[in-house]
Amino acid sequence: MQDKKLYVKSYGCQMNVYDSHRMADLLEREGYVETAAPEDADLIILNTCHIREKAAEKVYSELGRLRVMKREAARGGRDVKVAVAGCVAQAEGAEIIRRAPVVDLVVGPQSYHRLPELIARGDRAVETEFPVEDKFAHLPPPTKAATRARGVTAFVTVQEGCDKFCTFCVVPYTRGAEISRPVEKILDEVRHLAASGVREITLIGQNVNAYHGEGFGRTFTLGQLLHRVASIPGIARLRYTTSHPRDVDDDLVAVHRDLPRLAPQLHLPVQSGSDRILDAMNRRHTRADYLRVIERLRAARPDLALTSDFIVGFPGETEQDFRDTLAIVDEVGYSGAFSFKYSQRPGTPGATMNDQIAEDVKAERLARLQAAINRNAAAFNAACRGRTFDVLMEKPGRLPGQLSGRSPYLQPVQVMAPDNLIGEMVSVTITELGTNSLFGVLADAPRIDAKSSRVAVGA
Ligand code: SAH
Ligand code: SF4
Ligand code: F3S
Repeated sequence: MQDKKLYVKSYGCQMNVYDSHRMADLLEREGYVETAAPEDADLIILNTCHIREKAAEKVYSELGRLRVMKREAARGGRDVKVAVAGCVAQAEGAEIIRRAPVVDLVVGPQSYHRLPELIARGDRAVETEFPVEDKFAHLPPPTKAATRARGVTAFVTVQEGCDKFCTFCVVPYTRGAEISRPVEKILDEVRHLAASGVREITLIGQNVNAYHGEGFGRTFTLGQLLHRVASIPGIARLRYTTSHPRDVDDDLVAVHRDLPRLAPQLHLPVQSGSDRILDAMNRRHTRADYLRVIERLRAARPDLALTSDFIVGFPGETEQDFRDTLAIVDEVGYSGAFSFKYSQRPGTPGATMNDQIAEDVKAERLARLQAAINRNAAAFNAACRGRTFDVLMEKPGRLPGQLSGRSPYLQPVQVMAPDNLIGEMVSVTITELGTNSLFGVLADAPRIDAKSSRVAVGA
């Protein structure tokens, strides 16, 4: 029998990217081969995001396109199944099938290990329970071939769900209560990835620094876990995301000092610079608490670059509150940040708060905030010119002879370099700034020593 084809599309956060890979790995065992072309697929999975209204609406427009595609395939005698996974699946459940009858299967983030049985059953199904068994225990690790195809960097989910209940956020409802994966399972997975050529690992979780997994007869903090992961042969660089400012403990601060393999870059969302708004958001930290955390981290790792997420136009946000947010951007000097207009999400406390902010005010504040963020990011990038740092070469670049990699600070870097350096950490000197990337030259490139005509390495 011919292989069946699977097309998976991920929306939203890195947790979804990771889950999509795991679903593909699981379905590979059922005879599905991944394709990049949805029109060839027998099974299409949309792994969706519910974080803002726009994100959720994208799914319905995609389902509109799939309806046409499915009808055409049926005319050619081919039966195409459409599944909706992820956070929209969890939040809306059967409502999705009512609104978009093209959908055959709705499966929430905690039930992916049940996909084969749901598909085999053949009829319409909605699976959004939080089952007692752990999905991770039932999902197979990626094959070597799949890992190679995905490149030299990989995400590993170590923690899932969130107990913080920020008043704007759907995650505690769509992903459920916070759980940590056991240490040994994570280490096994990283060893397996390293053996398949992965050089950089990003440990991920909705609230990753709340990690408290069991291992070797005790409970590990994220800092302790990072130490273990860093000692796995082949792993050249480590990152973790996304952290909550409340859960930055002394252990975690110390790893930024003690673990050279940990990249000097941290995503630490603050959301707002106003104490009044932080309180209404139930963020459980003040502006001063946040700045103090950054001070501790920078004392441990002076070259630490910080990024953040911001929400503008949360209910009740005044012009003064917003100015406090603008001010914190300059105070921290972020290397970059994501910023969003507040979006009312069904079932969250924020959605029914008084003093919702008008759309045009949100738009105007977002534009001002983004200008401030861009100014800071540009200054950060400009300061990189002339610096030499480690770049992990990931893939062929845009031009022939060029490779594309990432700096320690996550900036894309384009370098003229031979293909055999893909997967290598190389020392690069930044020579120019582009719009979306930096340009550099190999710092250790062999060069001809004019006097002796010998090849010398290094500067
Ligand atoms: N777990 C992470 C990120 C969660 S979602 C954290 O705690 O930071 C990613 C970002 O989306 C959030 O940081 C927030 O800035 C944004 N976001 C979440 N809910 C939102 C909403 N209702 N409207 C606008 N932005 C939102
Ligand atoms: Fe959402 Fe807040 Fe949890 Fe982040 S910490 S996932 S913003 S509830
Ligand atoms: Fe979106 Fe769910 Fe991630 S709502 S941001 S896909 S946890």
